[in-house]
Amino acid sequence: MTTTNPNDEWEHRRQELRLKTPPEQTHRLFHLLHPKQFNRSFLDQMCELTTDIRTLAKSPAGLASLQRLLHHRRAMLYFTQPSTRTFLSFNNACHILGMRTSEIRDSSTSSEVKGETMEDSIRTFSSYVDVIVMRNWQKGLAEKAAALMDTISRPIPIINAGSGKDQHPTQALLDIYTLERSLAHRGGIDGKVIGMMGDLARGRTVRSLAYLMKNYRDVHLVFISPSSFAIGDDIVAHLDEHHIRHTSTTKLNQVLGDLDAIYLTRIQAEHDVADESKDIDLDQFSIRKQHLTRMKEDAVIMHPLPRGSELSPEIDNDPRAKYWRQERNGMWMRAAVLTRIFGAEPTLYELAK
Ligand code: NCD
Repeated sequence: MTTTNPNDEWEHRRQELRLKTPPEQTHRLFHLLHPKQFNRSFLDQMCELTTDIRTLAKSPAGLASLQRLLHHRRAMLYFTQPSTRTFLSFNNACHILGMRTSEIRDSSTSSEVKGETMEDSIRTFSSYVDVIVMRNWQKGLAEKAAALMDTISRPIPIINAGSGKDQHPTQALLDIYTLERSLAHRGGIDGKVIGMMGDLARGRTVRSLAYLMKNYRDVHLVFISPSSFAIGDDIVAHLDEHHIRHTSTTKLNQVLGDLDAIYLTRIQAEHDVADESKDIDLDQFSIRKQHLTRMKEDAVIMHPLPRGSELSPEIDNDPRAKYWRQERNGMWMRAAVLTRIFGAEPTLYELAK
């Protein structure tokens, strides 16, 4: 049996990277607000850029050149809703590219407690930094911030890092990257049966990821959720409009063996109005060791994390479990997003030579 040494694989990629000219950009990126901004060629280019950044970062010299890429830029991380992964991966993506960061993680420590409006806060941040990455409880605030930027003399890009129950576009990018890579030996996402399970009504990650499926051919989405947390009508209408096959069930066991990938999500109890999460039998919407034998041998198991009891740690070491890799991919994809927003790809490929 021959096995490929992972170091050889990265060395091979590095050699290819040295010879590469940056791909022709068809799609300029300034604000990143909603998955509707992304088409297939953009998604493919972002996946390629993410791998190229990872490749560079594998060598000390490559890492040093990445450090020079955006050393003249500063980012504001404005996260007034809890976050671990998204915050840390953006923060570290900035640091990998040599950017400096400022942060507000709690509006009770900012002038918002004195009654300053969100608009004035955003405008203030824009006086000091070159990009604002924002997460908050409300749908549409990032769009509002972007609209404000478009009226001022020194506009800076706004990145939506999660807007309430609505959207999480950069998570969807890293999810696409993880899915495409995990399914690469089988032709990628095209033609696959992809399950999405859990709180589909209030989980912004599944909403954004389902939205992006219009960019792939012959995908069949299987939604598995309690009927009270079914995927929103707006997403269903979008899938219908783009002729994307989708089915819904409350019975995981009836579909588990058909899935090429399953994307689990946690019940978003923080959005409960009247303790509605308490009525859910979460066991019906969970993956445990006993499910593994009924899944395809090369199925992909993903979760945006943090997990609740729907994803048992017993399966963490199964080769099909990709969520820890998915989490790390978030940092590389966000580095790619920043590189693209600042138009730094030509410099990146120069530095790689
Ligand atoms: C998700 C989020 O915040 O929407 N987490 C993340 O960004 N990785 C998922 C969740 O909180 O359930």
